[in-house]
Amino acid sequence: MTTLISQLSRRRLLLGTAAGAAAISTFTPTRFAIGQTAKLKVGLMLPYSGTYASLGNNITDAFKLRLAEVGGKLGGRDVEFVQLDDESAPPKAKDNAARLITKDKVDVLVGTVHSGVAAGMAAVAREENVLMVCPNAGAAELTGKNCSPNVFRTSFSNWQPGYACGPVMAKDGKKTVVTMTWNYPAGHEQINGFKESFTANGGKVIKEILLDFPKVEFQAYLTEIAALKPDAVFVFFSGDGAVKFIKDYAGAGLKAKIPLYATGFLTDGVLQAVGNDAEGIKTTLHYVPGLDNPVNKKFVPAFKAATKREADVFAVQGYDTCTLLSVGLDAVKGDAKAGRTLYSTMQNTIVDSPRGRFTISAAHNPVQDFYVRQVKNGQDVLLGVAVKALADPAAGCNMG
Ligand code: PHB
Repeated sequence: MTTLISQLSRRRLLLGTAAGAAAISTFTPTRFAIGQTAKLKVGLMLPYSGTYASLGNNITDAFKLRLAEVGGKLGGRDVEFVQLDDESAPPKAKDNAARLITKDKVDVLVGTVHSGVAAGMAAVAREENVLMVCPNAGAAELTGKNCSPNVFRTSFSNWQPGYACGPVMAKDGKKTVVTMTWNYPAGHEQINGFKESFTANGGKVIKEILLDFPKVEFQAYLTEIAALKPDAVFVFFSGDGAVKFIKDYAGAGLKAKIPLYATGFLTDGVLQAVGNDAEGIKTTLHYVPGLDNPVNKKFVPAFKAATKREADVFAVQGYDTCTLLSVGLDAVKGDAKAGRTLYSTMQNTIVDSPRGRFTISAAHNPVQDFYVRQVKNGQDVLLGVAVKALADPAAGCNMG
């Protein structure tokens, strides 16, 4: 005799076989089921050695600070980091990115600082269709000719801060300028952005000096600049190279004679190391540490408390990278492979950043204000807004 209980058990057993399993998998994709429990792996591919090491460290620590603020999870999933030192070495970029994706199985790639490395990374991210967020490198191609639905940037394109500086220098009455930078895409693109707006405002670049990255033998060039006597000098250097350049510029006696202008990467994160030598340098950038907005007022002391270091633009970009990922992944419950829904949520996010609110262009680059800053008493002080809501031209971008 069959009891009711045994009949129910039999029914359950039957549902547990083929027909039942099919019904379950139709409603809940495996990927989604795993996504709810497995940790989300974030690959941090950044420079932790060499001239850009301090930039990589600030991006990392601020990302982690923001993650703690949003409750330690992205899209409901706990986060596991895989950190890789990319050494700012372009020849190693593709192998490193491929290793993070195929061996470490990261769900998201975050990186990097150096434009040449970022280009290699993005090529791999595109091919493997892995979500990548760039927290610094300004390489035009990332959100230009090689733009891609799965590649986002929370920092800037190199053109943007350079372009912002031209009118500032023209307004200061500078007519002749010597430029100096490292011979790699970030250098070329920042100088070109500057030249475009400076010459459109009647200025003239009388000499362009290039050094191989990351060389810091500036002396002979500074002697040449002294002889050329331009109205001003415009440069891009960053990290340890910026520290050396600011010291050498003052040491060569040029500080008092020829005003120095730059994209703000020259002075961000280096002011303690250079002391009085940076006084008076004018720069353009999408951040100033003293910005008066609620997010920045919370961020600056929180970063200091967590790291014992001062906040800078690199920390801001790391912080905002986590914010953007948090918004995007929350919308798709942690499914980093969600595709269109994830990417459109990210693109339509207005990021409430310590730099002020910014939007994200169709090419996935920030549309943001650029500030004029000047070093006074060891601090970068806000002088005004150079350009409001500046968008990169995104030449050649076709998302397909
Ligand atoms: C870059 O390589 O794109 C780069 C590196 C350091 C900066 C800014 C841009 O501070």
